[in-house]
Amino acid sequence: MATILDNKHIDAIMASLMDGIITFDRNGVIIMANKAAENLFLVNKDALQGCTMEEIGGEINSMIGEVLLRGNEVFAEMLIQPRTQIYRVHVMPIKSDRDIEGAVAVFRDVTDARNFDQMRSEFVGNVSHELRTPLTSIKGFVETLLDGAMENSAICRRFLSIIDTETERLSRLIEDLLTLSSIESKERVINPKPVCLIHCIRSVMNIMGPQISEKSLHVEFICEPDLALIYADEDLLNQVLINLLDNAIKYTPRQGKVIIRAYRSDSRVITTITDTGMGIPRDSLFRVFERFYRVDKARSRHQGGTGLGLAIVKHIVESHGGEVFVESEPGKGSTFGVSFLVV
Ligand SMILES: Nc1ncnc2c1ncn2[C@@H]1O[C@H](COP(=O)(O)OP(=O)(O)OP(=O)(O)O)[C@@H](O)[C@H]1O
Ligand SMILES: [Mg+2]
Repeated sequence: MATILDNKHIDAIMASLMDGIITFDRNGVIIMANKAAENLFLVNKDALQGCTMEEIGGEINSMIGEVLLRGNEVFAEMLIQPRTQIYRVHVMPIKSDRDIEGAVAVFRDVTDARNFDQMRSEFVGNVSHELRTPLTSIKGFVETLLDGAMENSAICRRFLSIIDTETERLSRLIEDLLTLSSIESKERVINPKPVCLIHCIRSVMNIMGPQISEKSLHVEFICEPDLALIYADEDLLNQVLINLLDNAIKYTPRQGKVIIRAYRSDSRVITTITDTGMGIPRDSLFRVFERFYRVDKARSRHQGGTGLGLAIVKHIVESHGGEVFVESEPGKGSTFGVSFLVV
């Protein structure tokens, strides 16, 4: 047997909806507004009832006016002051036979979806740009070689070595993108085990040895004795350390100093990498962990950077339950830090 909903049921349903709902009579006076609508317009309980549509404001007012006049449904996306969220507003007529008896307006918060759309299109734009730059350069050099430059063996060798560098940059970019996406999509299963951080830092210092000596940098490692083991996926931890040390080396002038510290703080082990490099301006500090963000695009690209290194660091550390931080003074140097949980 069908059950007829009474007002109590309808009130409960309305109160539980995430979307704001307001119903109007044929004169545009509010008959009912649910809790989400009251929150949206920052008013107390039942304060919207009896208000006219004019009191709600500009664009919504004209949408409701149109629905009451013509009986068509209308949609719009708008910011509703003083809120910063974007709402999709859908207004439908309430009809009996041919008469328009009133209107219902539904307000849905679509901010996350719109931000996601924007991030996605920025990301695609950035990737395309990063791929196009080395490809254009490779194409240019190959054409010049085919046009006759390959007859001169010195020029040929020089151009081929540029093509080699650019190809390497392309493959590094693609590798970095795959690393990011595999961690983000949780496709790369994180396999944390008790790991000796000191051992990892020493092995990464060894791997980076040639770059360190090429720039005559002084690299120091300071560590507490008996440092606790940490819970981490060793390959990913190495990637974090490599990316941070790579930056410290890249952005520090010759004969500069890099200090790696590891110490315990409560239930975490903190690793910091301090350099005496160029530093990062204050207004860029909070952006350096964003994908593709580079303080000085030209300089970083010249050094082979794609701007993904720190985004990868942040993802790996946060997916281990740790945190990243940065402090810097332009012209003096920077300190990047990561934390991991102790075993
Ligand atoms: N130690 C540092 N000193 C000064 N600036 C830094 C340092 N580390 C990072 N930065 C700045 O932050 C930006 C982002 O760093 P990130 O490691 O993400 O990218 P990248 O080094 O440019 O390229 P990639 O690491 O992908 O090869 C760099 O371009 C640089 O401007
Ligand atoms: Mg880097």
